[in-house]
Amino acid sequence: MAGTNRDLMGLAGRGQAGHLRLGTCNEYRHPVGQGCCWPGGSFGASPGSELNVRWLGLRSDLRNGEVRPHFGMQPCWIRVLTRLPQPDTLDSAIKEIDRLGSAFQEGKGEVTMRAVVYQGPFSVAVEEVPDPEIKHPNDVIVKITSSCICGSDLHMYEGRTAAEPGIVFGHENMGVIEDVGSAVKTLSVGDRVVMPFNVGCGFCKNCQRGFTGFCLTVNPGFAGGAYGYVAMGPWVGGQAEYIQVPYADFNCLPLPSGDAFEWDFSLLADIFPTGYHGAELADVSPGESVAVWGAGPVGLMATYSCIIRGAAEVYTIDHVQERLDMASDIGGIPINFDVGNPVEQIRDMRGGDGVDKTIDAVGYQAAAQGSSAAGGEQTEIPNVVLNQMIDLINPTGIMGIPGLYVPSDPGGVDEGAKRGSLAINFGKLFEKGLKLGTGQCNVKQYNAYLRDLIISGKATPSFVVSHEVPLDDAVDAYDKFDKRIDGYTKVILKP
Ligand SMILES: NC(=O)c1ccc[n+]([C@@H]2O[C@H](COP(=O)([O-])OP(=O)(O)OC[C@H]3O[C@@H](n4cnc5c(N)ncnc54)[C@H](O)[C@@H]3O)[C@@H](O)[C@H]2O)c1
Ligand SMILES: [Zn+2]
Ligand SMILES: [Zn+2]
Repeated sequence: MAGTNRDLMGLAGRGQAGHLRLGTCNEYRHPVGQGCCWPGGSFGASPGSELNVRWLGLRSDLRNGEVRPHFGMQPCWIRVLTRLPQPDTLDSAIKEIDRLGSAFQEGKGEVTMRAVVYQGPFSVAVEEVPDPEIKHPNDVIVKITSSCICGSDLHMYEGRTAAEPGIVFGHENMGVIEDVGSAVKTLSVGDRVVMPFNVGCGFCKNCQRGFTGFCLTVNPGFAGGAYGYVAMGPWVGGQAEYIQVPYADFNCLPLPSGDAFEWDFSLLADIFPTGYHGAELADVSPGESVAVWGAGPVGLMATYSCIIRGAAEVYTIDHVQERLDMASDIGGIPINFDVGNPVEQIRDMRGGDGVDKTIDAVGYQAAAQGSSAAGGEQTEIPNVVLNQMIDLINPTGIMGIPGLYVPSDPGGVDEGAKRGSLAINFGKLFEKGLKLGTGQCNVKQYNAYLRDLIISGKATPSFVVSHEVPLDDAVDAYDKFDKRIDGYTKVILKP
């Protein structure tokens, strides 16, 4: 049973809406749920509409929508009550209490939160999972206000990784700090923060050099950790109500309080920095010409970042019309690869010239020409983007590759692809004297600067957000985002 008397007393003593969980009642010292512990009527103040609340077969009154801890209330209830998301109606309060109560009755022991849980290929569910807790003095618990679905989640969703059922998804997380460990120095309860998708320690050899995507501490035996992702360590994802953030002083980026720029800031967890990383890997500089493969969120952010960095022409290649339209709205030149080979299309537009820089924001699940989202044959050619990049780029150019490639792909198109071994035109690459950069984005290298661009009004990445939906609608959102239909480009889940 999670939660102890000390937890309850400690938080109650600090007088704050704490991160309490149902555990042992500190008044009568019995596990919550076993009876006696809440003589009704001990919370809610003003007289008025009176409603019965059912929970674990017990009854009490909630009055007047006033849902707050009240002197005399049993501490084991504090958590339930203070966690209600600003209950605007008593109905929502009752629903929440019923939900928590039944989770408890189902034998999950500690009362839980809702989260998006991977079930197997093409299947997720919103389920009750254990609450996160402070496990180390430098942890914080963040109450999620926004968590985005990412193209990277789709690799797992489609069964194209080694992800096992049971993973809680969500690496693009922001919210408000609900509880802080005793060693946290720079953060307080109530602070609004966004977390890089990478989990970093801040002190290993790689973190010290800024390569926080390759931290050596947080995922032992591997360079790099992330929330809610296969092979990225034990960090539970944030498509949920709460998340545990380790090394919190290092991993939380403070944001102005309130709710301004919520969509823009939520994109600081991953895709804005990752798109920017693509431009940085390719060293995109003022006046240059760039071709970006992919007009998904990352490709759009890469296009946007190249424009912010002063590129003269940015070609954005995809075959999903809504996405190409977004690229064009921000000043990109849209290229539909279903119409014809994008290399030839771009060369034709440029009088035979190639481009200075190229960016791959597609990755290994690249589609063949003609396989449009609307009923095409969906053939996959994992090396098509890499080879087109080598083809189009001018000699001595630089290629940035934030698009994901994996060393093991159960659904790979052939034996090589299953091992992440792809045929690329290395001879041409050498002949042209090209350079390339790959890998996870080191979000912390950019996120504070990109935040300040947002605050100063010089960047508005939220143009990419197509949908904001309740966490409970995640099943439908994953389905549509995966099919890239109904304009689903970037989805934000609201717990
Ligand atoms: N390096 C990192 O740190 C990092 C972080 C986030 C995402 N990623 C990766 O970046 C990639 C893009 O992410 P996203 O969220 O934008 O995903 P997404 O799946 O929404 O977008 C990919 C886009 O590529 C398009 N596409 C497919 N085949 C193509 C082709 N042959 N030519 C041009 N476009 C093609 C698709 O139509 C789609 O619009 C994914 O591989 C993701 O895993 C990497
Ligand atoms: Zn992501
Ligand atoms: Zn580290």
